[in-house]
Amino acid sequence: MDTCLNIGVIMLLLLLPSTVNAQYSVIDVTKYGAKSNGDLSQALTKAWNDACAAGKPTRVFVPKATYYLGALTLKGPCKGPVELQVQGTIKAPADPRKLKDTWFVIQSVDRFILSGSGTFDGQGNLAWKQNNCKKTSNCGLFATSLRFNYVTNSQIRDITSLNSKSFHMFLFGCKNVQIQQVTITAPGNSLNTDGIHIGRSSGINIAGANIGTGDDCVSIGDGTQDTTITKVNCGPGHGISIGSLGKYPNEQPVRGIKVIGCTISNAMNGVRIKTWPASPSPNTADNLYFENIAINNVDNPIIIDQVYCPLGTNCKAQLPSKVKISNVIFKNIRGSSTLPVAVKLSCSKSMPCQNVHLENINLSYKGSGKAKSMCQNVKPSFSGTQNPPACRA
Ligand SMILES: *[C@@H]1O[C@H](CO)[C@@H](O)[C@H](O)[C@H]1NC(C)=O
Repeated sequence: MDTCLNIGVIMLLLLLPSTVNAQYSVIDVTKYGAKSNGDLSQALTKAWNDACAAGKPTRVFVPKATYYLGALTLKGPCKGPVELQVQGTIKAPADPRKLKDTWFVIQSVDRFILSGSGTFDGQGNLAWKQNNCKKTSNCGLFATSLRFNYVTNSQIRDITSLNSKSFHMFLFGCKNVQIQQVTITAPGNSLNTDGIHIGRSSGINIAGANIGTGDDCVSIGDGTQDTTITKVNCGPGHGISIGSLGKYPNEQPVRGIKVIGCTISNAMNGVRIKTWPASPSPNTADNLYFENIAINNVDNPIIIDQVYCPLGTNCKAQLPSKVKISNVIFKNIRGSSTLPVAVKLSCSKSMPCQNVHLENINLSYKGSGKAKSMCQNVKPSFSGTQNPPACRA
């Protein structure tokens, strides 16, 4: 009896998502003229407008096939929940001059869902070839693939973002967005292809993503609060970063960021906080929590860098960062470093880091000799294992 009851409950739980789905009526873009190997923009725009005006849960369905799409913004507010389910592959123009700063934008929508096993292919190859940050300051100005502006109480799940010209996903001014099981892929040497960038947003949860790119897997920009990143596999790339912060005037505080249960492999950094020197305005970044992080073959597994100055940028490195970093915990971080300094805490001269705690750190150097720590303008506290040995500030 008990077993039957349990099975019944399990069946019910398994059925629940589809029951919820069943309430959605479906608009198939092929009914609006979308064709395999054709341009998707008219059909998708019409389908979106109808779904958005429907006043009941409506799914815009993009079936399996390849489509082409130029710059497009789909706007709310909508009269009811709208889901965009993509099973096909949608390709951006390969020529970067055909797009400005964004490719595909979802804006001002509440209760939105982006789902499906489909792919957004940014076709970034030509853009990366023109992107020479070592020679010009005019770099990284290509289109973000998927931009979400002022999207609230929403989900982004299962989709793949491939080979963006610049950032893959950028959330701005968003609230309560669940990002689940997404895949983000670009070559390790493609410049500025950040996986998921979040700015001025709160309540964002990223869970279970596979991200390998040429820049940060996840980056947290100014004004981001109460955001959690769990079970992300990152690499290649530049790791999971808070920042960069302190480059522009009037940036907003970053607070309450948790990075838990992530694996970072074959990457430049593991977990990082980065701020520019010579910040034009003061700002704060606090309550930053990194726990249960597995590190394989990473140059800088744990790094606070308040003299962040990437290649090809003009920095006044002698002027300190004005971003105050406090209440930071690095806990249960283990694995291997490719450089000898496995823990590097380089804080601001004018605003030393406060309340930085390291607990159970076990990072071994893959070269000959032992892993080391380096601390500047910070007096961290320690508990549990410390390999490398705790630094003396
Ligand atoms: C640290 O990691 C090494 C493997 O890299 C392992 O052999 C060792 O037992 C670990 N130490 C602790 C205290 O966990």
